[in-house]
Amino acid sequence: MANRVETVVYDIVKAVREVLSRHDVTFEEYRAGVGFLMQYAKAPEYEIPLVCDLWFNATITDNEMKHRKGSTTNVEGPYFLENVPVINDEIKTLDDGSEPLVLEGRVTDLAGKPIKGAEMFVWHSDNHGHYSGFDPELPQDSYRGKKIIGADGEYRIRTRVPAPYPIPHHGPSGKLLEMMGRHPWRPAHVHFKIRAPGFLEHTTQSYFTGGKWVDSDCVEGVRPALIHNLEDANGAKVLRKDFKLDPA
Ligand SMILES: [Fe+2]
Repeated sequence: MANRVETVVYDIVKAVREVLSRHDVTFEEYRAGVGFLMQYAKAPEYEIPLVCDLWFNATITDNEMKHRKGSTTNVEGPYFLENVPVINDEIKTLDDGSEPLVLEGRVTDLAGKPIKGAEMFVWHSDNHGHYSGFDPELPQDSYRGKKIIGADGEYRIRTRVPAPYPIPHHGPSGKLLEMMGRHPWRPAHVHFKIRAPGFLEHTTQSYFTGGKWVDSDCVEGVRPALIHNLEDANGAKVLRKDFKLDPA
């Protein structure tokens, strides 16, 4: 039986060797690279998952989509919280200067049948790119909540338009981006996670048409199907997004 660790790890090794060969990497560069990796030993423990997610998380969600027919999934990111209040039609926000945002749409199976009782987690940043539960300045449970989907499959949630934010960039991962001439910013987005018995968990993000950094997301997570127009209606922006969940 094939040893999957050997198969995957050794293919990674061969891919790296091919790159080192193609670019004629010198001993000096090789030792500089190893020395750079040593910085992770002294860095805060989130730096290794951070740099892995920076380059590879979106690839794994693309792999996931090869086996799904429903709506497009996307990276979860580090700011999901399990224990959040059930919301009705409004997420708790502060008067942070950003515009009201209405999230609306339907949650159905692949055939369009509503999924009654599905749990929809919604979370996003405030107008300064900060998340409650991680930024001590923000009230607990602000900018996040859990909606229970009713018999018609519809949801309509009032919140505020989030802002772009940089990933943590004061450690080696930020230094690496800087040396590469790249920026550490993610475009503004709203996170969703939907769970329902009999269906695969659906984790995704929604981005906004024309949003800053949409074309150069530092984690390269934006996919065309996840970019939505924000329509104007009754003094608010409206993001309409329907979810089709895959059967388990
Ligand atoms: Fe996020």
